[in-house]
Amino acid sequence: MNYELNCLAFLACCAYNYFIMEIVIYPAPVLRLKAKPVEEIDDTVSQRAEEMLELMYEAKGVGLAAPQIGWSKRLIVKDVAGEKIDDKVFINPVIIEEKGEVIEEEGCLSFPGVLGKVMRAEQVVVIAYNLKGERLEFEAVGLDARVWQHEIDHIDGRLFIDKMSPASRLAVSGRLKELEREYQKRQSSYQISAPSKLKADV
Ligand code: CO
Repeated sequence: MNYELNCLAFLACCAYNYFIMEIVIYPAPVLRLKAKPVEEIDDTVSQRAEEMLELMYEAKGVGLAAPQIGWSKRLIVKDVAGEKIDDKVFINPVIIEEKGEVIEEEGCLSFPGVLGKVMRAEQVVVIAYNLKGERLEFEAVGLDARVWQHEIDHIDGRLFIDKMSPASRLAVSGRLKELEREYQKRQSSYQISAPSKLKADV
């Protein structure tokens, strides 16, 4: 009996952990915060970064920023096919050089069903730390450069809809309103199940 109870508690705990590590959807306020630098690379940072990578692969994305899991830190994960680097986790990244301009269609895991044209620099030079605390410098072009810019925008609280061409922004406005309504609905259902509310209802 005790053994079964322990198993149940363990399962509930796992399910809960799994549940909280999910991609935050627009317009969650955390997406608009300027994230804080990572001061120390400890086990929590490494473990969360690994989980972020899993989540990104599951969602078939090429990049994910910490605020997108509700964690307001300057950490991103990315994996773009063809890039010449082994690291997938980047800490406190900064763009130090930008060159050229290119307009391409872009999406974001925090905006399901939203695609639009965004102007970005064609080439960037980025400095970041990896999980070992090594300082690295990268030159990126094309999609790789775009992903760096998109993810670094995330940790500054900037979203791709801010930079979308006026025509694209207009085209996605209906879907954005829908996401806002869905968010409000989720928020009110959380309130209903909160203990204080339940107590008030009794
Ligand atoms: Co994004």
